[in-house]
Amino acid sequence: MEKLLVRGYKPLKGQVRISGSKNAILPIMAASVLSSGEIILNGVPDLEDIKVMSEMLEILGAKIHRQNDVLTINCTDIKSCEVPEHISRKMRASNLVMGALLARFGKARVAYPGGCAIGSRPMDLHLKGFRNLGYEITEEFGYMQGRAINAEGKEIMLDFPSVGATENIIMAATLIPGTTIIRNAAREPEIIDLQNFLNRMGAKIRGAGLDSIRIEGVTRLGGVEHTVIPDRIEAGTFMAAAAITRGDVYIENVVHEHIQPTIAKLRETGAEIILTNCGIRIIGNRKMRSTDIKTMPYPGFPTDMQPQFMALLSTVKGTSILVETIFENRFMHVPELRRMGADIKIEGRVAIIKGKNRLEGAAVEATDLRAGAALILAGLFSEGETKISRLEHIERGYDNIHLKLKTLGADITKGNI
Ligand code: EPZ
Repeated sequence: MEKLLVRGYKPLKGQVRISGSKNAILPIMAASVLSSGEIILNGVPDLEDIKVMSEMLEILGAKIHRQNDVLTINCTDIKSCEVPEHISRKMRASNLVMGALLARFGKARVAYPGGCAIGSRPMDLHLKGFRNLGYEITEEFGYMQGRAINAEGKEIMLDFPSVGATENIIMAATLIPGTTIIRNAAREPEIIDLQNFLNRMGAKIRGAGLDSIRIEGVTRLGGVEHTVIPDRIEAGTFMAAAAITRGDVYIENVVHEHIQPTIAKLRETGAEIILTNCGIRIIGNRKMRSTDIKTMPYPGFPTDMQPQFMALLSTVKGTSILVETIFENRFMHVPELRRMGADIKIEGRVAIIKGKNRLEGAAVEATDLRAGAALILAGLFSEGETKISRLEHIERGYDNIHLKLKTLGADITKGNI
């Protein structure tokens, strides 16, 4: 079984380029089901979740071709509207094809999705939105089934600004008659990218990035070429890596607007952040100190950066309070960080982190995608060797993270260690 071997403690130095956003590409790939033309996506990283989404679209009958970071998708001849259990359970984003299948074909049968075990991750908001639009939805034998009875645009109020539910409802509303308004919509940048992608295919959507999104139904969508936005969570992960090693790293291919919460929190710890016109420089130092964090829907501090910051706050002077408000089980990295000497106490959704001036390398296990990233960061700070197993979690969302870290001077190798 392959593992990562990380030897700290070395300040990272140099320049690294951020890849395309996993959480923008996955809904955009699902949205390609709406199109009866050719879709060309540029800037697509080599991630496990993207392979799974490609496999899923091929099962439906799509033609997919990949050359380097360019992915070509053609859903003109899709023959099936059913996503079987063996593929659907591989990731959470499997659920995102349901809205597109309903809108284009008037029917869908999708097995419940899988994904990181960071919470129960129900589908109620997605299905409630579909029902509001006039789709008949049933749930049986582990599948969600839908068909268009008299689907038409409606006003929908989301009980929670769910990213996936917002994306799924946008897709389900794009090809039905009438106007849909989604209120209390999620405001993440990946939803703006989805809107821009769909509008370039011929959709009529306005308001993504705000809490109300308006979709005017159209009759068909054509092909398009699209370059996805940079991955703000990968960018944040490398920013935290520069800070935890007290290094000096320049990160290129970032949208400053998308990483403001991460910039603000790093500045609160005392790291120096310099913005340039197409990148960002992070300089850590030994005087960095504690700060408090509360994860919130965008534009608040992203839950996907919580584990990485827990690792960082375990290494700075002082006590930090971290509150996870989005997922009910997103502290699985805490026992693993404790193996490395971190001083973290958990009270429900609150973590109390007492910074230490040293951590020790240990054998640890990635429990989910961002937890795995946190363990790499802790290993970069620790004295001695850290061996990280269950790399499949990390490979879902980071494109060869160990090679990118190696270019920054990290002592990190991957193999059957
Ligand atoms: C997306 O997941 C991201 N995944 C997650 O990133 C991210 O953590 C999350 O949004 C929040 O920002 C992708 O975009 C592929 P949600 P999603 O629906 O859509 C509850 C990563 O590390 N909820 O906004 O599944 C849910 O239980 C991953 O890249 C319902 O109750 O997130 C959770 O508590 C992890 N009912 C909260 O909303 C529903 O029907 C936020 O979930 C849907 C969600």
